[in-house]
Amino acid sequence: MACNARLGVLRKHFCSASKGVSAYKAAECQQLKQPLVLLSKTSRPLEDHEVRIRNRACGLNFATYLTTRGEYQVKLEPPFVPGTEVAGEVLEVGKDVASLSPGDVVIGLLETGGLQEVVTVPGFMLDIGALTKVELKAKRDVDYCKLASLIVNYGTAWMALTRKGLIKEGETVLVTGASGGVGLAAVELAARIFNCQVIAVCRDEKSKMVKQYGAHNTIDYTRQNIRKELKELAPSGVNIVFDAVGGDGAVDLVKSLAIEGRFITIGYTAGIPKIPANILLLKSASAVGLWWGNTMQTVPDAFRESVETVTKMYLDGKINPYIQQSFPLEKVNEAFGLISSRKVVGKLVIEM
Ligand SMILES: NC(=O)c1ccc[n+]([C@@H]2O[C@H](COP(=O)([O-])OP(=O)(O)OC[C@H]3O[C@@H](n4cnc5c(N)ncnc54)[C@H](OP(=O)(O)O)[C@@H]3O)[C@@H](O)[C@H]2O)c1
Repeated sequence: MACNARLGVLRKHFCSASKGVSAYKAAECQQLKQPLVLLSKTSRPLEDHEVRIRNRACGLNFATYLTTRGEYQVKLEPPFVPGTEVAGEVLEVGKDVASLSPGDVVIGLLETGGLQEVVTVPGFMLDIGALTKVELKAKRDVDYCKLASLIVNYGTAWMALTRKGLIKEGETVLVTGASGGVGLAAVELAARIFNCQVIAVCRDEKSKMVKQYGAHNTIDYTRQNIRKELKELAPSGVNIVFDAVGGDGAVDLVKSLAIEGRFITIGYTAGIPKIPANILLLKSASAVGLWWGNTMQTVPDAFRESVETVTKMYLDGKINPYIQQSFPLEKVNEAFGLISSRKVVGKLVIEM
C-alpha cells in the first residue's frame, strides 16, 4: 500500500469511534484550547489486519499540547483523542498479523489516539517502523514510561545529529531548548554517544539536570548574551547548532557557527527564525531542517533506522530518557498545565 493511502487508513483508525465489547478510559479533546474530557469507550471487534494493545503509558510532547490547541502543523478536528507516543503490551492480534503475539511489549508512534487505555492499530505499522516489538532481556525489566518517552525525542535527535548534522566525535555542539524533551535527548546523544563538547542553552534553574545528561557548559539565555558567551566557550565557533527554539536568537547562533558548521532547525517554541544566507556563505556553512515524524513517509528507511537505533541504545543502557513526572490519565490536564507554563525538564508521561 502506498504511504499516503496507509496514512489515510491510520487516520481512520485513530479517529473513528469504537463500538463493541470491553470498556476503557480515554481523554478526549472535544473543543480546541479547552481541557480534555475523560470518558469511557468500548472496543469494537478486531479486524484480521489489526493489533489491539493495552496501552500502559503515553509520552507527552510539546507538539501534543499544541495539537490540543489547533496550533500544530498537523491540524485535527475535535473530537479526537490526542497523544502520539505509546508503550504497552499486545492484547489481541488479527489472523493476518503473523509477527506479534498477545503479551508482546510494543512501542508505537500514532498520528493521534495515545491518551487511552486501549489502542487498536493496523498491523502494517510494524512494516513502516511505527510499531516496534521490544525485545526485552526479561519481561520484569519493562519500564513503559521510559519506552513511551523514547522514540520521538531520541529518534528526532539521532536523525538530526547523524543524518542532518553529520556529527563527528569531538565536535562542539550547541543545543537550544536543552532542558526540553528533544533538547535533553540531543544533549545526551551528543555528549555520551559522540563524545562531543556540548554547550546547552537553558535557564539556570533547569541546568542541573542538563549537566547530568552530559552538557559541559550551560548558558542562561534570560541573563546572558549567548554570542558573547560562545566567544569564550567556543572561540573557533560551534560545529553543530541543534535549534529546538527558533525565534530571533537564531541569527546569533548562525553567526556563531564554525567554518563548515551545520545549523539544524528543529522547533519554534520562540517563533520561526529568518536565517541569514550571507552568513552561511561566509562560513561555508549549511542550514538544514528535519521533520522527523514525516520521514516515516518521506524517508522510511531512515525513520526505521532511527527508531531501531534508539530503542537498542535504551535497551543496552546507553541512553536513559529523563521523566520529570508521571500522571494518571485523570490528571492529564494538570500535566498539560506544566507544559504550557514551561515547568518541565525532560518529559511528562501519562501512566495507564
Ligand atoms: N522537527 C521535529 O521533528 C521535532 C521533533 C520533536 C519536537 N520538535 C519541536 O521541538 C520543540 C521542542 O519540543 P519539546 O517536546 O522538546 O518541548 P518541551 O519539552 O516543552 O521543551 C521546550 C524547550 O524550549 C524552551 N523554551 C520554550 N520557550 C522558549 C523561548 N521563548 N525561548 C527560549 N527557550 C524556550 C524550554 O525551556 P524554558 O521554557 O525553561 O526556557 C524548553 O527547554 C517544539 O517546537 C517541537 O514541536 C520538533
